[in-house]
Amino acid sequence: MSNFERTFVMIKPDAVERGLTGKILSRIERKGFKMVGMKFLLMTKSKAEELYSPHKGKPFFVSLVEFITSAPLVVMVLEGPDCIRQIRKLMGATNCAEAEPGTIRGDFGVSIQNNLIHGSDSPESAKREMAVFFTEQELVNHQRSLEKWISPAPTPVH
Ligand code: RTP
Ligand code: MG
Repeated sequence: MSNFERTFVMIKPDAVERGLTGKILSRIERKGFKMVGMKFLLMTKSKAEELYSPHKGKPFFVSLVEFITSAPLVVMVLEGPDCIRQIRKLMGATNCAEAEPGTIRGDFGVSIQNNLIHGSDSPESAKREMAVFFTEQELVNHQRSLEKWISPAPTPVH
């Protein structure tokens, strides 16, 4: 499939503690993306520093690591056409105060740090981030019979 893409998504500790896991997950599911991996865990400091290594040295880095290790979270890998960009659209702007209503951050948050969800921002980030939490064997390849109703295969050009 030419538009095959995977992304790494986290439901952050603020969302888990506030009981918003199901609500957030249902928005991703109803959009049509396919779950290929999921774990509930307490992130270690070393995993947090590895995940957020591109932000090392920024003023918010220490507090971000503290926040992300402060309570359990859900990490997952999703698959679907253009899913990296599409999931970031569902999430909304980084700062919940700026995020549009209708987006996850726009509807459920007010903070820039406690912004409920993470989604990879590029294919390179997705590959790097999912490898922090999942081995290739842990990701489940599966076919859904309803796939053609979500995203039909492109019609061949003759
Ligand atoms: P994410 O990586 O979590 O999907 O969010 P993002 O791309 O929209 O934001 P990014 O710039 O990558 O920042 C990563 C996370 O750091 C926290 N942050 N705090 N206090 C601040 O100024 C600040 N800026 C960013 C947020 O939790 C953000 O999601
Ligand atoms: Mg980011």
